[in-house]
Amino acid sequence: MSTAKKEYKRVTVKTLVEMKNHGEKISMLTAYDYTMAKIVDGSGVDVILVGDSASNVMAGHETTLPITLDQMIYHASSVIRAVNRALVVVDLPFGSYQSDPKEALRSAIRIMKESGAHSVKLEGGREIKESIKRILNAGIPVMGHLGLTPQSIYKFGTYTVRAKEEKEAIDLIKDAKMLEKIGCFAIVLEKVPAALAKKVAESVSIPIIGIGAGHDVDGQVLVLHDMIGMTHEFHPRFLRRYLNLYKDMTEAISQYVNDVKSIDFPNHSEQY
Ligand code: KIV
Repeated sequence: MSTAKKEYKRVTVKTLVEMKNHGEKISMLTAYDYTMAKIVDGSGVDVILVGDSASNVMAGHETTLPITLDQMIYHASSVIRAVNRALVVVDLPFGSYQSDPKEALRSAIRIMKESGAHSVKLEGGREIKESIKRILNAGIPVMGHLGLTPQSIYKFGTYTVRAKEEKEAIDLIKDAKMLEKIGCFAIVLEKVPAALAKKVAESVSIPIIGIGAGHDVDGQVLVLHDMIGMTHEFHPRFLRRYLNLYKDMTEAISQYVNDVKSIDFPNHSEQY
């Protein structure tokens, strides 16, 4: 299979399937605000996820559960204003789609209408099948999310690797096939054994985007603030840090404090 990279002016849901078919890996990162999204989009990332991880990263909550639909729409609108090339996917937050398909559709419509996003992501398999179908029927592209689904953290009890047991692995493959069949354009697969992730990617024709799922999938996603090292207390095995911004920013800000206190800043050329 060729790994040649084709130039795409604008990434769409169709582009992602094309990438899978050509063997080109898909790059995906989170962003929650205009400035970061501008950098991420300008760097050539294919998919920007306005993740409900904003609940942890931006608001400091312990889980993704507290973030609201209004807050997701605020983050998504800021990201959309910055993006020229990437496909923007927005998480439906906890409580905005689990009760019934009508409510799920209302929430998805609000995200699309009020933020200008290109698609939505929902966590879960057969238990939310009817909700996903309802959203798809309205013409809204849906990305699935299987494996570790952080909105169900209190059901799982921990953030450890999912589907290590055969029954859960078989169910996960069934869910992936069901999501493909009803029309999802891609699936995020979080924290499952690499061998299982490979099997899932081979079992469906839509792209599987992994996080902690090894490299035999169709793309990778990370939380931006983790991969640039702004969050420094989080050390999962799957995370590769490309910068240590926590350290660099702390040093720069401490230097600024010193410069202000010592009247080194501002100097003559930095004033009017
Ligand atoms: O909310 C998020 O950032 C996510 C990724 C971890 C895939 O869902």
